[in-house]
Amino acid sequence: IADVQDQIDHELISKAQIDSKIAELAAQVSEDYRGRDLLLVAVLKGAVNTLVAFSQALSIPVQMDFMSLSSYGDGTVSSGTVTVRQDLSVDVRGRHILIVEDIVDSGRTLAWLVDELKRRGAASVEVMALLQKPSRREVDVDVKYSGYEIPDEFVVGFGLDYAERYRNLDSIAVLKPAVYQGA
Ligand code: PRP
Ligand code: MN
Ligand code: MG
Repeated sequence: IADVQDQIDHELISKAQIDSKIAELAAQVSEDYRGRDLLLVAVLKGAVNTLVAFSQALSIPVQMDFMSLSSYGDGTVSSGTVTVRQDLSVDVRGRHILIVEDIVDSGRTLAWLVDELKRRGAASVEVMALLQKPSRREVDVDVKYSGYEIPDEFVVGFGLDYAERYRNLDSIAVLKPAVYQGA
């Protein structure tokens, strides 16, 4: 397996751009939730990098929990059904929740999770997402704290994977076509 850098076609969003956008969103969230007990719910696995950077940029103390959801499997196209790989460890009843996501594509994962958390009795549910692909949206979900909008290209890095790899890249990039063809 070749080095990651040799498999990248081009970088779409640099680490510096990610950091500055996350700082901006974190300042807004810190202001909006000051004085309230906030629970961050990160959607594993893609949201891991965003959660770490975002939570460290917040100036208020928060709690964190994790839910592992999958709609993509190993392909580049969403299956359309959300699978719970691992559930939360806390009761969300009466809690103010901010879902942390790496990317909103069709919107199916988020729509399912927002409904589910409300069904479980959360006091409020908002969404922070680093990336959105507006041209791919199929389901309407309100993303209150939104980072970058990107074109309809399959991207990896900063938590986003292709067949479970490339999550460890520190920027957002498009892979060389040969990488997908080799799969
Ligand atoms: C990806 C991504 C989002 C979701 C977005 O997760 O991290 O959670 O898909 O797609 P949607 O808006 O069409 O639902 P994936 O299913 O690949 O699981 P992963 O986070 O473990 O990579
Ligand atoms: Mn995900
Ligand atoms: Mg994935």
